[in-house]
Amino acid sequence: MGIEVRNINKHFGEFVALDDVSLDFSSGELTALLGPSGCGKTTLLRIIAGLEHADSGRVLLDGEDASGRHARERQVGFVFQHYALFRHMSVFENIAFGLRVKPRKQRPSEAEIRSKVMQLLELVQLDWLADRFPSQLSGGQRQRIALARALAVEPRVLLLDEPFGALDAKVRKELRRWLRRLHDELHVTSIFVTHDQEEALEVADRVVLMNKGKVEQAGAPDEVYSHPASPFVYGFLGNVNLFHGRVHEGVLEAAGQAFAAPDHARTQDAKGIGFVRPHDIEVDRYAPGAEGILVQLRRAHAIGPLAQLELEREDGPDTIEAVIPAEHFRQLQLKEGETLVVRPKRLHVFVDRQSL
Ligand SMILES: Nc1ncnc2c1ncn2[C@@H]1O[C@H](COP(=O)(O)OP(=O)(O)O)[C@@H](O)[C@H]1O
Ligand SMILES: [Mg+2]
Repeated sequence: MGIEVRNINKHFGEFVALDDVSLDFSSGELTALLGPSGCGKTTLLRIIAGLEHADSGRVLLDGEDASGRHARERQVGFVFQHYALFRHMSVFENIAFGLRVKPRKQRPSEAEIRSKVMQLLELVQLDWLADRFPSQLSGGQRQRIALARALAVEPRVLLLDEPFGALDAKVRKELRRWLRRLHDELHVTSIFVTHDQEEALEVADRVVLMNKGKVEQAGAPDEVYSHPASPFVYGFLGNVNLFHGRVHEGVLEAAGQAFAAPDHARTQDAKGIGFVRPHDIEVDRYAPGAEGILVQLRRAHAIGPLAQLELEREDGPDTIEAVIPAEHFRQLQLKEGETLVVRPKRLHVFVDRQSL
């Protein structure tokens, strides 16, 4: 089922939680809703589910205005961060719950319920846990059961609100891969809320970045990563070094260097910032006449295949973070305190619109 969100606004008192949000979620797609805590992700999800009313705007489910439709009628499955399993019910009964509470006419027979629940348990690969109680499960297992329970009523949309948020890093990683495979089998239109950019980029077909109640950018993971639409998106999707300077006719002058900024060929003398990822910084030992920005090596540590360098600019208090292959780092035999020269290999320039 496709979901269209049209000009949704939501206030809590004076506070603007959602500010004119419009989005399309294609049928069968897995979309990650990504943004910092408090940016409005849960509020948007609850409005789509019908658990919360928008002040204005519309939600269309398969092209049909859902405003008048109660949460129950929207056929939406919901999985929350905090395990919402019923403690006093076995795993089997937790999954069967949504089927047992259906109106008598739609309620499946006991045999049908049993077969459906076992099928779902196999789907989430936990059929051996049917008779256990939630307290006897690990956090990751509980969330998989919560997902099976949400799927039992065959929702047309699956909404997952930081479902792995309370789990440790290793389990989270396993579960997001598992969720991706599950989605490839089922193709239920799904919205997955997270504040973890790595999780969003890895799991989703499409990523929607939100900030302060607004949509900053929506697109395929590699699209938002390679072509961030705003400084916020650039900064949120990974570590970044900033070079403040001025942009004039396609050139950013910063840190005593001139960088090409072809997107800003017609800009006349404006404030600009060059954004550079740590792995796009080239590092060399200083030699007289070397081109680049002079820095001092403050700290370096090489764990695994990469070395992380903390560098301090000689022309000011700014720190630069560089990540280079550990092998290259060892060949250079760099010492802390040494003077080095760095060159940004790839730099993305944003112009401060207010200074134009
Ligand atoms: N029921 C509520 N009453 C008052 N403020 C709320 C309520 N629900 C959410 N908010 C506020 O709205 C903002 C967005 O919340 P939320 O949608 O939960 O953000 P996120 O899920 O992105 O962390 C937060 O600042 C939160 O405090
Ligand atoms: Mg939330």
